[in-house]
Amino acid sequence: MRNKLIVANWKMYKTIQETRAFLEQFRSFSFPAHVEAWIAVPFTALHAAVSYVKEHRLPIKIGAQNIHQEKEGAFTGEISGVMLEEAGAHFAIIGHSERRKWFHENDMLVQAKIRGALLSGIAPLLCVGESKEERESGEIEQVLSFQLATALQGLPPPAAGQFIIAYEPLWAIGTGNTATPDLAQEAHRICRAFLARHWGAAVSQKVSLLYGGSVKPDNVRSLISEPDIDGALVGGASLDAHNFGQLILKVKG
Ligand code: PGA
Repeated sequence: MRNKLIVANWKMYKTIQETRAFLEQFRSFSFPAHVEAWIAVPFTALHAAVSYVKEHRLPIKIGAQNIHQEKEGAFTGEISGVMLEEAGAHFAIIGHSERRKWFHENDMLVQAKIRGALLSGIAPLLCVGESKEERESGEIEQVLSFQLATALQGLPPPAAGQFIIAYEPLWAIGTGNTATPDLAQEAHRICRAFLARHWGAAVSQKVSLLYGGSVKPDNVRSLISEPDIDGALVGGASLDAHNFGQLILKVKG
């Protein structure tokens, strides 16, 4: 049985002070044991968030939203897995569609970043998803399989809990156009079937697959009731502690 996992993606929101204020409010929520909450904060808030969570013994994992593939080097402005690990990050989002779009990250770079993360003990949270045009022309299976095949090429099967995949259709991110549970399930089924071919059926059953794209407190339950949807990657609805807490409380076993 895979735990349910809800991951906040704060994007370029929240200062250190705002991060502490969020956690102060968020810690009043207590969640069922089978539901995990992770938060991907901006780099500058990593250390403060990790310290807060440790100090208050909160069962929350803190991560980053990007990572550089090398351990160190002359790469002005970049942050490595070694640095993230030292700051206490548990995971890093890799290949989010906003990074693919605005920072021209392609599937080969995504693959390199996944390797870099694993070498530093950071769990990759890989994002895949199709555009509106690709969906309309019926290419979903090809698009998802290509993204996964390139990103995971040559990678050994991960340890349980050390590799997360988020299916985030581009047309659903930040638009309010959430995928219907049926449509999301079909994409997740495609991803899990790919993992079964790539790593074997047993491993494919251990990898958590999240849905992302306009997840809100009022639609989360129907999405994660689907058999292959193990949780959600939440942008806008994760920024307010009360709203995010309510969203997690909607998750049932
Ligand atoms: P959204 O963002 O929930 O605001 O649609 C999701 C994401 O970009 O990960």
